[in-house]
Amino acid sequence: MDSDSGMTVSALGATFREVVENGRGRAGLVQLLDLSGRAAIITGGGGPGLGRGCADRLARQGASVLLADVSDQVEDVAMALRRSYDVPVVTVVADVTSDHGVQQVMLRCREELGSVDILVNNVGGGGSGVFVEQSMEEVLAIVDRNLVAALRCTHAAARIMVAQSTGGAIVNVASTGAYLAWTGTPIYGACKAAIISLTANLAQQLAGKGVRVNAISPGTLASDRSISVLEHPDQYPEYVEAIARSVERIITRRPATAEEIADVVVFLASDAASGIHGVNWEVAGGMA
Ligand SMILES: NC(=O)c1ccc[n+]([C@@H]2O[C@H](COP(=O)([O-])OP(=O)(O)OC[C@H]3O[C@@H](n4cnc5c(N)ncnc54)[C@H](O)[C@@H]3O)[C@@H](O)[C@H]2O)c1
Repeated sequence: MDSDSGMTVSALGATFREVVENGRGRAGLVQLLDLSGRAAIITGGGGPGLGRGCADRLARQGASVLLADVSDQVEDVAMALRRSYDVPVVTVVADVTSDHGVQQVMLRCREELGSVDILVNNVGGGGSGVFVEQSMEEVLAIVDRNLVAALRCTHAAARIMVAQSTGGAIVNVASTGAYLAWTGTPIYGACKAAIISLTANLAQQLAGKGVRVNAISPGTLASDRSISVLEHPDQYPEYVEAIARSVERIITRRPATAEEIADVVVFLASDAASGIHGVNWEVAGGMA
């Protein structure tokens, strides 16, 4: 007898038996979270917020890391990682909105770290403003940073992951701005909504090829940058107002830290999340 999926019922039974047996032999959570021997690319890995947080938490779990950033400040982050962890750390100063930049990143990762096992599409941000007052150049620059960069990196990395026998994991950094219209970031929000949709769709296409694709959505992040904004309210009145408005909507009335968010990135990138495909997890302290 055939099931609706076209599989014979006996084949379905055999699949279930194999899955159950594999489940019983599954390693413990601590081992599953161990990323030793994996090569992770973090785009925007030189950033003071989530980029640095992801780099730190991935290296802490034993991953070799490649930090790709348009700013040469990425070297400072790399130096701090090398001091703290005994893992290879490679930096590439490149613009990942360009094909050339992305090719450089993938080449260096394969040459120096041996494979591309994890991709964290972290580059993004900016984009507040009134749409009709923004020039098309400004609008397209927001799209480049918040959508095109992730598309280019995912396209290049997924091809490598599919071709290598070990597959891989992609974690996209979206934002609660994708579905909260009060944040005043229309183009940014639209790009992040596209990232969430891309995540779900690519997860479907790549699951059978050994590649998992998932997303996280941070809300407001507490970082050195946001502290500096709050310490100089006269210099950044709009940002102060935006931060205050967003914190009022967080259930806990406090922003999440880069480390809290990066720990979820680590989980989704690791074998602990082997059964998770195409999700978008909000890590924002609970949005009211
Ligand atoms: N900061 C927040 O409150 C917040 C909230 C929700 C979502 N996010 C998302 O989290 C991610 C990280 O944001 P963050 O504020 O922590 O920034 P971050 O501190 O991680 O810094 C981003 C880094 O990206 C680099 N970068 C920018 N454009 C680049 C390019 N074209 N090529 C290579 N590198 C480039 C910058 O130089 C910077 O170092 C973004 O995708 C952002 O949209 C942030």
